[in-house]
Amino acid sequence: MADDLPLVLVLNGPNLNLLGTREPEIYGHETLDDIAEALEDRAAELGLRIDLRQSNHEGHLIDWLHEAQSRNAKAVILNAAGLTHTSVTLHDAIKAIRVPVVEVHLSNPHARETFRHKSFVSPVARGVIVGFGARGYMLALDAAATF
Ligand code: DQA
Repeated sequence: MADDLPLVLVLNGPNLNLLGTREPEIYGHETLDDIAEALEDRAAELGLRIDLRQSNHEGHLIDWLHEAQSRNAKAVILNAAGLTHTSVTLHDAIKAIRVPVVEVHLSNPHARETFRHKSFVSPVARGVIVGFGARGYMLALDAAATF
């Protein structure tokens, strides 16, 4: 049964609902639905199931990190978007759970404005994948399969 397969939550933060039309020269032309579809296919090959969500609200992301723990998820793939650079509470939530978190960014924040160089997620992430566009999510899923 698909429901028995190890679960990977794919959590996306503010403004990522606009992928495809939002600054495509930076974030590419793929929408979050395109990414979800590609991840579903890859997850099926890897014997995993994914649950992809997006919210513009910090508290939702925190609740979902807690949920990852209570559902005994295998991993969380997290693109916290702008909250990456500001959120102590996301940092704390990741620290509070045992589920490994893979931090993903479509762009390479280190090659952009200095305010994007700081990540509150990186110090508590299992690993970090940046700068490979939508493909970064697939790389993160391949990594999660090995956990
Ligand atoms: C982002 C990078 C962040 O700096 C930015 O605020 C985003 C998207 C990325 O995927 O490249 O919203 O997380």
